[in-house]
Amino acid sequence: MTAALLDTFGRAATDLRVSLTDKCNLRCTYCMPAEGLPWLPSDELLSDDELVRLVSVAASLGVRTVRLTGGEPLIRPGLPGLVARLAELVDLSLTTNGLGLTRLAQPLRDAGLRRVNVSLDTLRPDRFLALTRRDRLADVLAGLAAAKAAGLEPVKVNTVLMRDVNDDEAGELLDWSLAHGYELRFIEQMPLDPQHSWDRGQMVTAEEVLERLSARHTLTVDPSRGSAPAEVWLVDGGPARVGVVGSVTRPFCGTCDRIRLTADGQLRTCLFARDEFDLRTALRAGETDEELAARMSSAVLGKKAGHGIDDPSFLQPDRPMSAIGG
Ligand code: 5AD
Ligand code: SF4
Repeated sequence: MTAALLDTFGRAATDLRVSLTDKCNLRCTYCMPAEGLPWLPSDELLSDDELVRLVSVAASLGVRTVRLTGGEPLIRPGLPGLVARLAELVDLSLTTNGLGLTRLAQPLRDAGLRRVNVSLDTLRPDRFLALTRRDRLADVLAGLAAAKAAGLEPVKVNTVLMRDVNDDEAGELLDWSLAHGYELRFIEQMPLDPQHSWDRGQMVTAEEVLERLSARHTLTVDPSRGSAPAEVWLVDGGPARVGVVGSVTRPFCGTCDRIRLTADGQLRTCLFARDEFDLRTALRAGETDEELAARMSSAVLGKKAGHGIDDPSFLQPDRPMSAIGG
């Protein structure tokens, strides 16, 4: 019998999100406060060796894909070396804000990274500055081009639309992405912002995104979606595609295959989980691979059925998105 990370709802965790740092060189309003966010103490961050060890234990339990996240993963020192070690164990991808890709896309590709997702919510410099509190749009666009040139495939763009902020750009972002050979995915905004000002009524829903795009293009369902969170649509008959991730209004918790490891070595079974399982302390106390595997298995057994955003008792996670890993 092969080992697997099964929960009580019959789901198997095969995809691990690993946060490499809680720090970031942008300050997106829906993710971080302008200032005053305390960073994790550096002695609590997993070293490369510790990270590789935990990923190899997870791989022995059926984890096949790992996505590196942050904060901003590209600011972790020595990233290509870490990627080379992880790529031997799992199929690797990375989510980034794009800053630093001009320098790192090629070394990461050479080290075994396959794909990249770049977050980009607007193509207008003034809006980019307002949204991220940094005037770096040109650097992100250059980073995207570098990812494409380095042969990372696909290059995906992740966009969160916010009402009266950037929701008028849906069509423009799609046309621009198609023209550059990037695959665009719209993600519904989830309640993770530090101000706790998320409001379901204000959220731009998947339905609305589709309405806006349909004004310019004919969208038909792409039958090859599988169990991925994004509903994928062919644009004007394909092969061009666009994804819409309805995390809130069209939740995919029932087929969720994800778990998460924070930069300080805490295992979480959901972005919105209230508990964390401290693998760092266990690892540093000298536990064996079998003991660590048992901790992972028992954590996953307690995975809840869904994120519960719609429950009256829903509470945002204590940590901000930047500390959990996107
Ligand atoms: N809801 C949805 N997506 C979010 N991201 C950050 N905060 C939120 C949120 N509250 C996205 C970023 C990036 C990815 C890591 O998660 O835009 O694409
Ligand atoms: Fe940084 Fe991503 Fe958070 Fe923006 S959303 S502040 S790019 S971690």
